[in-house]
Amino acid sequence: MSGKPQDIVISQPSTVDGSELWRVARDSRTLDLNSSYAYLLWCRDFAATSAVARVEGRVVGFVIGFVRPTDPETVVVWQIAVDGDQRGRGIAGRLLDNLVSRLADQGVRHLETTIAPGNTASIGLFQALTRRWGTSLRQAKLFDAAHFPDDHESEDLYRIGPFERAGARVPA
Ligand SMILES: CC(C)(COP(=O)(O)OP(=O)(O)OC[C@H]1O[C@@H](n2cnc3c(N)ncnc32)[C@H](O)[C@@H]1OP(=O)(O)O)[C@@H](O)C(=O)NCCC(=O)NCCS
Repeated sequence: MSGKPQDIVISQPSTVDGSELWRVARDSRTLDLNSSYAYLLWCRDFAATSAVARVEGRVVGFVIGFVRPTDPETVVVWQIAVDGDQRGRGIAGRLLDNLVSRLADQGVRHLETTIAPGNTASIGLFQALTRRWGTSLRQAKLFDAAHFPDDHESEDLYRIGPFERAGARVPA
């Protein structure tokens, strides 16, 4: 666990956190809200590629991801969100740093995520991650709006890396 600044604690989630992850996702009004079951399942089976942020014991943010089955050196960040009243404090950045630090030790070298073109906060978040880790970011088209059965926006692919292997730590 890491806890800097003092009142923010980042850790791996456990099953009991699933309902709060669902709430944070719902309250974001930006993320696609998955079923409550999906967040519980993720906290049980993908805790090693996810992280939760707490302030005074209360869940205020999360990141969930998975290692690509066809590319074990790449972690895909599926969703990340921070409660509205906690944004701008560096919490999302710390969630990603926690995840990358843990996984780089295990040989993960790249991070992928998809972002809708208008989501400037998310684009800024992943650009900042790239700068902190002194690495590179590549952007490409992935899912067109036409791929989706509903009125979902297009999603661009962002691929960040490489990250250093074991012992990798973002500079303080
Ligand atoms: C995106 C989100 C997770 C960022 O959370 P946060 O805790 O406020 O982000 P941080 O404080 O850690 O900021 C990290 C970096 O992103 C940048 N950033 C954050 N919000 C930004 C915004 N609205 N516009 C531009 N850049 C922004 C910050 O400037 C910072 O970069 P810096 O270190 O160079 O200053 C948050 O806005 C959110 O939950 N949004 C709704 C859900 C969402 O869109 N998730 C992403 C889906 S792909």
